Amino acid sequence: MNTVQIKPDIYWVGVIDWAIRDFHGYVTPNGTTYNNYLIVDEHITLLDTVRHDFAETTINNIRHIVDPSRIKNIIINHIENDHVTSLDKIMALAPKATIYITEKGKKGLSRFFDLSAWNIKIVKTGDTLNIGKRNLLFLETPMLHWPDSMMTYIKEDKVLISQDGFGQHYASASRFDDEFIECSSIQELDDAVVDYYANILMPFGNLIKSKIGEIQKLGLEIDVIAPDHGIIWRKDPGKILKMYMDMANGAADLRVSIIYDTMWQSTEMMTLPIMQGLKDEGVDCRVIKLRATPMSFAIKEFWRSRGTLIGTPTLNNKMYPTIAEFLHHLTGLRPKGRITGVFGSYGWGGGAVKEAYDSLKAMKLETFEPGVEALYRPSPDDEKKCYEFGREFAKKVKEYHNQFK
Ligand code: FEO
Repeated sequence: MNTVQIKPDIYWVGVIDWAIRDFHGYVTPNGTTYNNYLIVDEHITLLDTVRHDFAETTINNIRHIVDPSRIKNIIINHIENDHVTSLDKIMALAPKATIYITEKGKKGLSRFFDLSAWNIKIVKTGDTLNIGKRNLLFLETPMLHWPDSMMTYIKEDKVLISQDGFGQHYASASRFDDEFIECSSIQELDDAVVDYYANILMPFGNLIKSKIGEIQKLGLEIDVIAPDHGIIWRKDPGKILKMYMDMANGAADLRVSIIYDTMWQSTEMMTLPIMQGLKDEGVDCRVIKLRATPMSFAIKEFWRSRGTLIGTPTLNNKMYPTIAEFLHHLTGLRPKGRITGVFGSYGWGGGAVKEAYDSLKAMKLETFEPGVEALYRPSPDDEKKCYEFGREFAKKVKEYHNQFK
């Protein structure tokens, strides 16, 4: 292994990380890949590198095609550790190569490496680089998802090297979307796209829309979208563009996630009648016990669902710690276009339901009040209230969902 030609003389020289299950705190049940690309032209050009512990793998992949010392240009589209931390090993083999990077990228790169001996050229949107038969066009994509980020378009081949954009954490024997079309794992792949978007790109919906608009305005024809993680989109690059536009416009399924935690099962007992109320109004739901679930999975389910109900017991007059952590995390992702509500149990004094409700309100999410609460143990009467709460919330979710049609 392991190079794959994505167009004549353009190769994937990346690595597959089958084993990673924790990507800086996100669960990655399917592993990931670190994609980088080599163009064999008059001036041999490498686009991006890989995580430091895979440096030798990508260097060996490059060696299958050319002697790494012949690399003339290195494009650094993004300086996050998973893409840049083997740059020093590559520069050691090709010390005369010129690095092309955004201004903010160079500033950040200087925190990783001593740049004094390296040739570095700053590029910005619209700049081009001729490498022989081909011309590269640079497109800055600041805050998608770091300030330094950019994409590189290979004009003659109509290939967009899109860095983290349009990527997924998905390790697979396949490199291309068309290798998935006929098998069931296409669903897994779509799920990985949503997971990646929810956990990494959720705050940047407006930027995504304007960047896709900018690409369309430039009239760039795109045959292939090649991200730095996961599958390369060559059969249907329009599919991933549409998925991104839909998500940036707030697309969600008409369903509800009940995300809860519990101390002595009282809050947990409340989930069942609520779930029944939702179902009886024709709204599907998924119940997620937070303490037993990775945070990034719960974030994905929140994002996938038009409505979310948070269930929390009161502990020392506060939200249960896992719920507080979830809401803290969600706040940073600046969610939009979702309706939420809260329920929970308490002993002698409440507080958690109000605190969770205030937290959702502070995020400027649509919120459904009042939250239903049960003292110590849900009574039959509390269960009836929970059922009605579920029904009423389902009605609100349907109404709210209609605004997005
Ligand atoms: Fe795949 Fe932002 O790094």
